[in-house]
Amino acid sequence: PPGPDGYPLVGNTLSVVRDPFAFYDELATHGDVVRYRVAGRTFTALLHPDYVERVLVSEPGRFERYVFADLGFDIGTEGLLMTDGTQWKRQRRLLQPAFTIDRIETYAETMVECAERTADSWIDGSEVALNSEFSELTLRILAKALFDVEVDPATDGEVIARAARAINERVNARNLSTFLPQWVPLPANRRYERTMRAYREQVDALIDRRRSADSSGEADDLLSIMLRASDDRGGTLSETEVRDNLVTFLFAGHETSSLALTYALMLLARHDDVAATLRAELEEVIGDERPTAAHVPELEYADAVLTEAMRLYPPAYILFRKATDDAVIGGYRIPAGTILTLPQFHLHVDDRFYDDPEEFRPERWLDDDRDRPEYAYFPFGGGPRHCIGMRFATLEMTLIVAVLLCRFDFELSSEPDPEPSAAATLQPENDVRVRVRRR
Ligand code: HEM
Repeated sequence: PPGPDGYPLVGNTLSVVRDPFAFYDELATHGDVVRYRVAGRTFTALLHPDYVERVLVSEPGRFERYVFADLGFDIGTEGLLMTDGTQWKRQRRLLQPAFTIDRIETYAETMVECAERTADSWIDGSEVALNSEFSELTLRILAKALFDVEVDPATDGEVIARAARAINERVNARNLSTFLPQWVPLPANRRYERTMRAYREQVDALIDRRRSADSSGEADDLLSIMLRASDDRGGTLSETEVRDNLVTFLFAGHETSSLALTYALMLLARHDDVAATLRAELEEVIGDERPTAAHVPELEYADAVLTEAMRLYPPAYILFRKATDDAVIGGYRIPAGTILTLPQFHLHVDDRFYDDPEEFRPERWLDDDRDRPEYAYFPFGGGPRHCIGMRFATLEMTLIVAVLLCRFDFELSSEPDPEPSAAATLQPENDVRVRVRRR
């Protein structure tokens, strides 16, 4: 593939660190399969939806998830996100029953209750930082829904939130230490180790509490299901797998939804016309009732708003895969071991597939008859390893938006552009602040 010749190593590393988004725009001028080097590693970017589909959906067995294990991103080494092969398959089989539509819908009440608590805490006319409000809210929902644990922000919640922040800081492309292995004794690495140790201890405490609370063995939250999981092939989860999956779910299921909500509300605050259309739909479908799971399938415009927000600001903005065999993609030879990048943040705004790609226009998902390849949009990944929490997140986000929009008007009060930065997830560089006015 084109590159890396002509791309000096250092120049590359610096331009990725400074502005990964512009860097990818530049890569795309070389074609749809482009090799580049950053900090001594070689990557091959796949910049066409058909190649994304092939890797994620058509031939997932030949491209495994790549997790930068040597960089020590400890987000549950033995959990669903980080494992592969038969270990992953057994875990996915054991965990899937906790994510059926029927099961997810039983969490709706908790989602609405928690959103109402957040709404109750907002003072009319005050300014709130959406990112931290939603981070707390989605963490509370996740802990309550999946583990039946009340997360007190002053204790458990704080350790977990700190660990999520530490992981993001550690994986931030702007932070040069990201590219150094974890054993390098930088103060940042030592701090990270300490935070993650505290996090693991906290998670162990959560497990012990849950185990003693469920003496009847009938509780149906995710953690209880994990603790007693077994399948007809005799598969179970080991102690370490249970713990690492808790870590995985608390991490994968909280910042992501929180960011999608942050950007969605920011965009609604900026686009009065969209907010008005959404409110009209909410009034028609929900009226004076309390939002429930039964309303959600009817909220088509709300769905389009969230879809469009995640198009422009995909919380998971790039996926990594490693070729396990030699392959040919787009006419280029991809030797076994090649690390592939599949960048949502780039493909979601490719003008080959979207008209006015930079514009926030939810209508494009309702009445746009443009024929675009399916994987021009993949905020939840695709294929067998697609996001297991996708339905959970969609239900949660729709209900939260419904609760908040019925109660408040939002005026943007932060800088117009949040300057997303390439951390583990697409974090805003600064707080995204809005002024809330009770309706
Ligand atoms: C996997 C995005 C919410 C748990 C993924 C992947 C993406 C993603 C893109 C695939 C990664 C890859 O293929 O390399 C998102 C977004 C969310 C969200 C954008 C919210 C808007 C959640 C929630 C949960 C969750 C709420 C848990 C309740 C997971 C897990 C995996 C995963 C465990 C790994 C699945 C596997 O490998 O089998 N997510 N996610 N996510 N997600 Fe989510």
